Order: sequence, then C-alpha cells, then structure tokens
Amino acid sequence: MKLLILGATGPTGRHVVDLALQSGDTVTVLARRPEALHELAGRVTVMAGDATSPDDVAKAMTGQDVVISALGRSTSVRADDLFTRAAAAVIGAAKQADVSRLVWLSSFGVGDTYRSASVAQKAMYRTFLRNIYANKEISEKAIRSSGLDWTLVYPTMLTKDPAKGTYRVGDRLPMKGNPTISRADVADFLHKAAHSPEWIHRDAVISD
Ligand SMILES: NC(=O)c1ccc[n+]([C@@H]2O[C@H](COP(=O)([O-])OP(=O)(O)OC[C@H]3O[C@@H](n4cnc5c(N)ncnc54)[C@H](OP(=O)(O)O)[C@@H]3O)[C@@H](O)[C@H]2O)c1
Repeated sequence: MKLLILGATGPTGRHVVDLALQSGDTVTVLARRPEALHELAGRVTVMAGDATSPDDVAKAMTGQDVVISALGRSTSVRADDLFTRAAAAVIGAAKQADVSRLVWLSSFGVGDTYRSASVAQKAMYRTFLRNIYANKEISEKAIRSSGLDWTLVYPTMLTKDPAKGTYRVGDRLPMKGNPTISRADVADFLHKAAHSPEWIHRDAVISD
C-alpha cells in the first residue's frame, strides 16, 4: 500500500513509519524538517514541506492510497490553527488526487468523546488543553463532512513505553482516572486501520 504519513518526525508518526516499512508499504512523508527523520530518510520518499500548505500537501498526495496523520503541536498548548489548516489542505488535496482513505490522529476528550471522559480527564481538557482541543474539534467537523473514508482516532494520554500489543479500542470506552496508552500501540492501530475498511466512518477511542 502507498501511504502518505504526516507528522512522521514526531514520536507517534515515527512508529507508524517503522511499522509501515516493516510490513512492506511504500512510504512518503511530508516533513518540514526532513533532517529530523535521521536514518529513516533513506527508506522513504521525503517531500519537504508544510502540512498546512495546500500546494505542499497536493504534491505529496499524488499517487497515494491512504493518508495517515500523526500531526501535533508537541509540548505547545496553542494550536496555532494547525489542525484546521492541515485538515483543509489534506481534504482538498485528497479530493483532487482521488485519494479517499484518511486515518487522522486526534485526542480523547475532543468533540463528543468529552462526554465519556472521567472527572480527572475533563479537568485537563478544560484547562491547559482547551485551545488545542477547540481547534481539533473544528478540524474534525470538516473531516466528517468531507466525503472521504475517514477514521478519527482518540487516544488517552500518550506514553513513550514500548508496544504492549494489547489495548482497548471501541467507538466508546468507559474511563476511570487518567488512563494512558503508548504511542507505539497507537501507531499499531493507525497502521492497521489504514489497511482495513473496518473503521471507516467511525471514531476509534483507544486506551490501555
Ligand atoms: N501527549 C499526549 O498525551 C496526547 C494524548 C492524546 C493525543 N495526543 C495527540 O497525538 C498526536 C501526536 O502526538 P505526538 O506527541 O506523538 O507528536 P508531536 O510531538 O506533537 O509531533 C507532531 C508532528 O507533527 C509535525 N508537524 C507539526 N506542525 C507541522 C506542520 N505545520 N507541517 C508539517 N508537520 C508538522 C511535527 O513536525 P516537526 O518535527 O517539524 O515539529 C511532528 O512530526 C498529537 O495530535 C497530539 O495532540 C497527544
């Protein structure tokens, strides 16, 4: 499968690239800092560019089967419109290039998933994650109404732990306290979802 991976220089995106290469996918990454790909650079097609630029995304989109986004704002608490701008660029380019499948990494607590959050989680989502979550919510409305075969993925708090290979995933999950999941396991789900129709037009909440 030909995969375009956004956010490949981030910790979750890097795991997705590893899994895709292990399983024989042909990988293109769109990265604004290609040098941060290090040893992966020689094993993927690297398009230098910005995920919020319609032109850069359109160039990377040509000939792809699936787009996986692991875009994020790292440690910043300001969205800087990243998600709305990237979603608009991706939707436009995907339609233009006739690429229908999009697997998009969000965060548990965004949009309707907030309702099933625990008290501890809601406290974080309402305070320091508020700006990021508001921008993610708008971007996801655009994705849901895009006509693409989207899957929106909602992980709980991410860790750097190694993959366990077992995790909970469902359209809704009961939450207690502040559960976590490793980025490696989230990447496993993103990669599997890209290869299966099972999660098309569905929200996937994922947690240990
Ligand atoms: N931290 C948590 O506990 C948690 C919980 C649930 C969900 N999430 C979500 O999971 C996602 C991934 O998080 P993460 O910590 O693995 O990654 P991250 O550190 O947020 O990395 C983000 C990636 O996005 C790229 N990026 C950002 N802006 C870009 C732009 N304009 N053009 C191109 N690339 C751009 C970064 O590239 P550069 O290398 O150039 O910066 C990097 O590759 C995020 O959306 C985050 O909100 C996080």
